[in-house]
Amino acid sequence: MKNMLEQIKHTAVDALEHCSNLKFLEDLRVQYLGKKGELTQILKQMGKLSAEERPVIGQLANEVRAKIEEEISVRMKQLKEEKLQNQLQAEKIDVTMPGKKFDIGKKHPLTLVMDEIKEIFLGMGFDVVDGPEVELDYYNFEALNIPKDHPARDTQDTFYINDNVVLRTQTSPVQIRTMEQKKPPIRMISPGRVYRSDALDATHSPVFHQIEGLVVDKNVTMSDLKGTLEMFVKSLYGEDSVVRFRPHHFPFTEPSAEMDVMCFNCHGKGCRICKGEGWIEILGAGMVHPKVLQNCNIDPEEYSGFAFGMGLERVVMRRFAIDDIRMFFDNDMRFLNQF
Ligand code: PHE
Repeated sequence: MKNMLEQIKHTAVDALEHCSNLKFLEDLRVQYLGKKGELTQILKQMGKLSAEERPVIGQLANEVRAKIEEEISVRMKQLKEEKLQNQLQAEKIDVTMPGKKFDIGKKHPLTLVMDEIKEIFLGMGFDVVDGPEVELDYYNFEALNIPKDHPARDTQDTFYINDNVVLRTQTSPVQIRTMEQKKPPIRMISPGRVYRSDALDATHSPVFHQIEGLVVDKNVTMSDLKGTLEMFVKSLYGEDSVVRFRPHHFPFTEPSAEMDVMCFNCHGKGCRICKGEGWIEILGAGMVHPKVLQNCNIDPEEYSGFAFGMGLERVVMRRFAIDDIRMFFDNDMRFLNQF
């Protein structure tokens, strides 16, 4: 029995020395020390020994067990260290290699100027409000005092989805939605995409952007409109900008006006940019029509307001001397990277 124990010790130590990975190490542990392991098998036969032999063999068995356990733990440490080193080697990063370059995105020129315009109005205490681009006929026309047979409908070549649903032709429906939801005082702008079935050319696009503005409160007058819009233009184009208002007509405002800014290039003399006019039209505006207020359950005897709407593309084209509106929608990187 003693010989058998010595034998086990030797083969175990030898096997452990040659063991090359943690999985085999575990197998060896089971093989020698496990419940059905070789050492256990021998210990089970201790009962057959004499009283004198038993403690001697018992002690030896314990020594053998301790030795094997020690060898296992030493080997385990070594193998773990080896594994770690291999992993570190395999995952080594060469920090001197040239990095991958990321292209940093830029804002689209329309977004750049839109953000600037939003900032100006936010600074004057306006809220920015969103509205749907697929809009009910009611909001796009009817509530804005443009009934079904109104000639103004012809001038806004509308994409109809069905009799009652359109792609909005202007941002003015957001006025109505706002007045329906909120009681005065109201001070909001609504920037967004609008659609008209214009043929695409250098100055027309079936998709473009407008920025709508609305102020409703007690005692709002035409001079508030003029003061606000003049301040806006000076923030956008500079303190020395000059504006003028011309009478105009919109079904949803009364009186209505268009606002021009004196050509920044020729200062009123007339040039290529202002097409010889000396002035550049930038927006439509007016005092909110009493019928429109009534449509939104706002009493026109108690409240008054002004509204304005402008196209974004023209402003941006003049700002960056872009001569073709299609550039905005082509996604040509050579164009976009210039901003
Ligand atoms: N929605 C008008 C248009 O598209 C512009 C406008 C808005 C005019 C608000 C007056 C008041 O022409």
